[in-house]
Amino acid sequence: MDITLRSRREIELIRRAGAVVADVLSKLKEIAEPGVTTGCLDAVASQMTAEAGAKALFKGVCSPYARTPFPACVCTSINEQVVHGIPSEAVILKEGDILSIDFGVRLDGYCGDAAVTVGIGEISDDKRRLLDVTKHILDIAVTRTAPGIKWSEIAAEMQNYTESAGFSIVKDFVGHGIGKKMHEEPRVPNFVNEELLAGDIILTEGMVLAVEPMVNAGISDVRTLKDKWTVVTKDGKCSAHFEHTIAVVKDGCEVLTAGSTLRQITK
Ligand code: MF3
Ligand code: CO
Repeated sequence: MDITLRSRREIELIRRAGAVVADVLSKLKEIAEPGVTTGCLDAVASQMTAEAGAKALFKGVCSPYARTPFPACVCTSINEQVVHGIPSEAVILKEGDILSIDFGVRLDGYCGDAAVTVGIGEISDDKRRLLDVTKHILDIAVTRTAPGIKWSEIAAEMQNYTESAGFSIVKDFVGHGIGKKMHEEPRVPNFVNEELLAGDIILTEGMVLAVEPMVNAGISDVRTLKDKWTVVTKDGKCSAHFEHTIAVVKDGCEVLTAGSTLRQITK
């Protein structure tokens, strides 16, 4: 496995890209209310990205299923949509929805990638629990990441916590290394399988990973809609998604998409 280790300077550059991502996500969270379209969220993201002198990472990326470029800056995935939902002026957020907003930029040659899932207005207790569990397993990854730890140990904890809560981890999509490109080695699953056990990731100072658990309220199976992008749960139940770009550092882990210019060290 060819995992690039990043210098302190490169990590700072990724953090600068991550700060733009965090700023945009925090703005979109604030304006995502009943009556607002996902197309409007995309327009705001596009403008803020240009103002920051950055470039949106997702726009124009080709779908693995067909040569269909992703047409927008952000992915907006509502309720049973898992990831890669396409923003549109025709999609109006309504009270009680949950919305995953996934966004990434390149700034000065380095990439940041993050996602949050938010409730629109008041949401049900079930949806709140799904959001809390998904957020929690991303927190597990952040607090457990440190040099010398095997990723499979963290992935097992994420999976066990999710399954003990009665939910399931999406297996068809995984996190990824990130740096000069949005997707680099290694694949970063949120569950344990043969592939991971055969080629475990020993976390090493300088690794930069986008960790992005997707949790389904029902079964883990997903399918892709005819638009070639939008991934939905097969059983139609809700799904949530949280993501941070993190760096393995000497003392543990730093979150590079946390949005504060202060260094965030967890250990
Ligand atoms: N955070 C997602 C990922 O890392 C978003 C990619 S959207 C795409 O895969 F359009 F770029 F594919
Ligand atoms: Co990602």
